Amino acid sequence: MSALFTPKTLGKTQISNRFVRSATNEGMATPEGEVTDRLVKVYKNLAKGGVGMIISGHMFIDPLGQASKGQVSIHNDEAVPGLKKLTEAVHQHDSKIIFQLSHSGRQVEKQVLGQTPMAPSSIHRDLINIQKPKQMSEEVIQSLILAFGKAAKRAVDAGADGVQVHAAHGYLISQFLSPFFNQRSDKWGGSDENRFNFLKEVTKEVKQAIPEDKILIIKVNGDDHTPDDGVTPPLAAKYAAWIESLGYDGIEVSCGNGAFAPFSVFRGEVPVEDMIKYFPWWKKAIARIKLQKMVGKHDLVHGYNLDAAKVIKAAATKTPIILVGGVRKLSHMEEIVEKGPADFISMARPFIKEPFIVNKFKEGKRDEVKCISCNKCFVGSRQDLPVLCYEKGYPKK
Ligand SMILES: Cc1cc2nc3c(=O)[nH]c(=O)nc-3n(C[C@H](O)[C@H](O)[C@H](O)COP(=O)(O)O)c2cc1C
Repeated sequence: MSALFTPKTLGKTQISNRFVRSATNEGMATPEGEVTDRLVKVYKNLAKGGVGMIISGHMFIDPLGQASKGQVSIHNDEAVPGLKKLTEAVHQHDSKIIFQLSHSGRQVEKQVLGQTPMAPSSIHRDLINIQKPKQMSEEVIQSLILAFGKAAKRAVDAGADGVQVHAAHGYLISQFLSPFFNQRSDKWGGSDENRFNFLKEVTKEVKQAIPEDKILIIKVNGDDHTPDDGVTPPLAAKYAAWIESLGYDGIEVSCGNGAFAPFSVFRGEVPVEDMIKYFPWWKKAIARIKLQKMVGKHDLVHGYNLDAAKVIKAAATKTPIILVGGVRKLSHMEEIVEKGPADFISMARPFIKEPFIVNKFKEGKRDEVKCISCNKCFVGSRQDLPVLCYEKGYPKK
């Protein structure tokens, strides 16, 4: 039997196969971040479709950490009953569910928060807000470390099998880790050790909040793809060794950032004209120039985080690796799991189009996913549409 369909433990939990649904913000929550029936159905279908472990879309752990409308909240206890519906839907099948805990930091449109976002440092104007974010005070940093822990406790209360700390893609933890975004000179910046401190403190809080039998994983960047050096592969390797010593049960390897290079995270087409439509008139010209520069820069290469995963595996030899990014062919997945460096194959966009793909692989009905990485699912999310496959077009308003 293919190694892809053999079980493997993550921490103390057995996962029935090597397929993971990578975190995908479905944009289906209420404006306040509550779980809806539509969202429950997405999770029910994914679990039914045979995937061993589902990582939720990133959930905001603080009201000022929201990244977009329609994102799920885990920032207060009122969220727990709704979140329970997700775990119950998944546990009706042979699948596990992990909640991804996140804070957007600077990577959010001002209108979503109703105020200027906060970040480790007040530097760099980006494509999102044009203006600079506000620098976080020590008091805010301390409160957010606690908020990650409280959110982890809520995940357990809601019945999740564990949590994933979102330290990738240019969101808050990723901003702290990056020499490009973090230019602080206090204990949170100035050296690699100091830039790692925020993640270290967050991890301590999260570990205290969850029982030992729950899964604790992290998503990291092998490369930030920022205009100047942020996290690059050598720094990612250094961090990976420290992450292993913090006791994570698994590391998911990704890359990129949403503010300067969104199409490095999910590679493929850059739908420039579709994107432009949703910028306000005064941002359209600059957005077009910036988006056109991205065309062809991050075309889909199968398994584009594979080299980064090798570097990270070499630095964190005892920790299972979850590989995400453009993995599309069954034979390729098999090779990666059988020869290394990854123990699990994670996908996001293919599951939007085909929630039942793992069962189809298993039944021998398919050897490749149908997703063409056109990225219209992502553009839909920018228009506050639910995240669905819009390869054939968007609904008429
Ligand atoms: C619409 C959309 C929403 C996403 N939401 C998240 C998210 O909430 N958290 C996260 O870590 N990554 C998110 N991602 C990135 C994916 O998890 C994944 O890293 C990336 O799409 C590459 O994998 P793929 O080629 O299999 O799609 C999202 C991607 C897309 C297209």
